[in-house]
Amino acid sequence: MKILMVGGGGREHALAWKLNQSPLVQRIYVAPGNGGTASHKDLTNLALTDKVALREWALANGIDLTVVGPEAPLASGIVDEFRQHGLRIFGPTQAAAQLESSKVFSKAFMRKHGIPTADYQVFEDAAQAHAYVDAKGAPIVVKADGLAAGKGVVVALDVQQAHAAIDHMLAKDAGVQHNQGVARVVIEEFLDGEEASFMVVANGLAAVSLATSQDHKRLLDADQGPNTGGMGAYSPAPVVTPEIHAKVMREVIFPTLKGMQQDGIPYTGFLYAGLMIDRAGRVLVLEFNCRMGDPETQPIMMRLKSDLLQLLWTATDPDTQLLANTELQWDRRSALGVVLAAANYPATPETGQEIRGLGPDTEEAMVFHAGTVEKDGKVFTSGGRVLCVTALGDTVKQAQTRAYELADKVSFQGMHMRRDIGFRAIRR
Ligand code: AMP
Ligand code: GLY
Repeated sequence: MKILMVGGGGREHALAWKLNQSPLVQRIYVAPGNGGTASHKDLTNLALTDKVALREWALANGIDLTVVGPEAPLASGIVDEFRQHGLRIFGPTQAAAQLESSKVFSKAFMRKHGIPTADYQVFEDAAQAHAYVDAKGAPIVVKADGLAAGKGVVVALDVQQAHAAIDHMLAKDAGVQHNQGVARVVIEEFLDGEEASFMVVANGLAAVSLATSQDHKRLLDADQGPNTGGMGAYSPAPVVTPEIHAKVMREVIFPTLKGMQQDGIPYTGFLYAGLMIDRAGRVLVLEFNCRMGDPETQPIMMRLKSDLLQLLWTATDPDTQLLANTELQWDRRSALGVVLAAANYPATPETGQEIRGLGPDTEEAMVFHAGTVEKDGKVFTSGGRVLCVTALGDTVKQAQTRAYELADKVSFQGMHMRRDIGFRAIRR
């Protein structure tokens, strides 16, 4: 089969790498890809990002299956575009992708279908939003409605921070996509507990869960500093016990798929529930994403033993029962990934630095590329999150040791990383 992978981050490198292990694969094209996919002998980068150009290219080149990595093309309707032309593609439609692209949509959806989440209200009017914060007090959480590349959420520890976040997010130039041209904020109750990333492959009412994971969103050790796209992740997440797992499927995943079906927007694609698990074992949804997490995908793919292409082919079959009958095999070891970031990430990352010390990858230790480009056999930085060094180990601790050993061999000017990825699991 000929496969088109849309995206160019670490998640897409990991998905393409895993898809490539399938005996069903003839060729994988990655659009636009990165320096890692460019250097891989079986992967071909394609300098296209526009959905119409991609669809025309897929038709002209006999692509059998397209897999979409990031949220932006999903929110802009790439799945609708491909399907209208009879192309097989794995991902949610534009309407279904609103679970991620609109916080107002996803919160209203959860309220309507009884899916556990923080109590909230929506505001367009700044004065009303400020009054609500004053009435509720801090800590309190302010979220921009539209996609904001990880910068749309402020967990305000005092009311001043919340007031500032409201003014910023309702302003015209906040770097947030305003749905229907209207700036809105969701203000919600602060939840305390431990977070976990819970992802499934879904097709209509059927879902198969992927291995659990935990991300580290803050820039600095001990969860200090600003939020980022994610500085490292590991799998599995011990906070998701078998009981919690069953509860998430029962209270979150299946009600979500059923609710989407009832609302006339059936969901096909990866579905990611960002969860808060509190001390009492209650599970609450912080957010939905309509894609895999980055960097969670990197450790998850290292643990997946089943054929990913077979899985996604099954998940795009009109017979959704096929997916419901699927069971996945996982490596029992842990996997842990450390993100190597560029100077000044997440604000204004510095790019164009040559990367040194990239060794040969193995099945047990992989350097997945994100913000990199290849030029004349050399690799240069081109984004904020540059690489994700990912290793397997018998324990989280061992996977951590191996990942850092490998990370310490890599260098580029301004490179920085967190030193404590996996600390919660190791502390347990
Ligand atoms: P989100 O994009 O909605 O997942 O939010 C980004 C991050 O903000 C989450 O990973 C949490 O760490 C934090 N967060 C979001 N909502 C809440 C909440 N209601 N209470 C506490 N922390 C939250
Ligand atoms: N790592 C968090 C995310 O992909 O949203």
